[in-house]
Amino acid sequence: MSKKRTKKVKKVKKVSKTKKEVKKTNIILQKDEIKIFLPEKQIPDAWYNILPDLPVPFEPYIHPGTKKPLTPDDLAPIFPMALIQQELSPQRWIDIPGEIIDIYRLWRPSPLYRARKLEKVLQTPAKIYYKYEGVSPAGSHKPNTAIAQAYYNKKEGVKKLSTETGAGQWGSALSLAGALIGLEVEVYMVKVSYKQKPFRKSMIETWGAKVYASPTDRTEVGRKILAENPDSPGSLGIAISEAVEVAVKDQNTKYSLGSVLNHVLLHQTIVGLEAKKQMELAGDYPDVVIACCGGGSNLGGISFPFIYDKLTGKKPDLRTVAVEPTACPTLTRGLFGYDFGDTGQMTPLIKMFTLGHKFVPSGIHAGGLRYHGDSPLISLLCKHKIIEAVAYDQNPVFESAILFAKNEGIIPAPESAHAIKAAIDEAIKAKEEGKKKVILFNLSGHGHFDMIAYDDYLSGKLKDVPLSDEALKKGFKSMPQI
Ligand SMILES: Cc1ncc(COP(=O)(O)O)c(C=O)c1O
Repeated sequence: MSKKRTKKVKKVKKVSKTKKEVKKTNIILQKDEIKIFLPEKQIPDAWYNILPDLPVPFEPYIHPGTKKPLTPDDLAPIFPMALIQQELSPQRWIDIPGEIIDIYRLWRPSPLYRARKLEKVLQTPAKIYYKYEGVSPAGSHKPNTAIAQAYYNKKEGVKKLSTETGAGQWGSALSLAGALIGLEVEVYMVKVSYKQKPFRKSMIETWGAKVYASPTDRTEVGRKILAENPDSPGSLGIAISEAVEVAVKDQNTKYSLGSVLNHVLLHQTIVGLEAKKQMELAGDYPDVVIACCGGGSNLGGISFPFIYDKLTGKKPDLRTVAVEPTACPTLTRGLFGYDFGDTGQMTPLIKMFTLGHKFVPSGIHAGGLRYHGDSPLISLLCKHKIIEAVAYDQNPVFESAILFAKNEGIIPAPESAHAIKAAIDEAIKAKEEGKKKVILFNLSGHGHFDMIAYDDYLSGKLKDVPLSDEALKKGFKSMPQI
């Protein structure tokens, strides 16, 4: 393992340093380049923390019992101190330890593609770029934070990590991290995804972790939910409660979350920092940055380094678009307020857009987007109109996924296909307006374990069921009064 790379003083200039670094690589691109690679030595050596650059102060997490702001000690039973400190760090740049970079080198830097064939078939004047995170061993962006979280836990003597997983991507990512770093991992997988994706389970087990279909009878929360509804399809909110309960009850186990929290989005900024260098090599800068949004980690990851330029006046007209399913429309139809991060009320209260922690979305195929809440950072930026949000039904999303696969080759994860649909819509709008727009989206993962979803779409079995105002109101009622 390499020595820890230390950089004592991190400065605002770090972003503009990209230019110097790009020059140093002496990379000369052909005019019609499709993939833009960076050498391994260009892996960023610090994550970007957006907290000090927010337009308004971050609202504290609240202890549900005392209703007072949470202290680091309140979080200590479930997270290691290093991650608790990152969660509310005032530092703009946070060093990435050399040991983490060494593991990142297995697949990072990930490629940036120009979707030239898709542009042609859409006959758009827009340039469409996408950052492809499906090249990681687990097949998505999730290992970027899984490796970091496992590393800090291991350093503080933790033996086991418990976690939830929706689509199975996060569970596989943490299992991979457990195998590479040497930690036991226990995964609570939302039951509907467990059934839809049996090979995600095999993948998790291949890396040596244990996986259970949630709700389970292993936890108090799970038993209570099964007593109320033995056929519960599960949800991320329920699986989180189970995993947190396991961590709270065992002092050698800590909990690991694959999205939502600030430290998770922080680790994911490696995606946007690389993309920035790659866009610079391509000689372009995005007018719009797009990503699907479940808990917000891949969106925060790709967009925050660009939003930095918006917040500091370098690119004031930059647009960022969060894309969610109409079945779980947290940002487009949710309320902004304090709510629990999980169904069983085990977590602190978080100020975010939410559908209410008791809301259980229908069993759509983009399992990773079935979360009632959202990252508090993404929520705040949405509230302040720095990020926009759109929602799509799953049938048009799969239609876009197939158009993309037929032209670009890659079969996207259903979650990522939401971003593709939005990018295509932006490209069509550019054509209608005759504008030479530059579009960048995050292709957060591949869909190789999602072929049942593709089967359902291709055989006309996918249903788009409208979400009624009554169902939403019922969910909102579960929000606590703060
Ligand atoms: C491929 C993929 N993309 C996106 C997501 C959504 O998560 P987030 O909003 O945290 O990026 C998931 C979640 O499981 C996923 O598997």
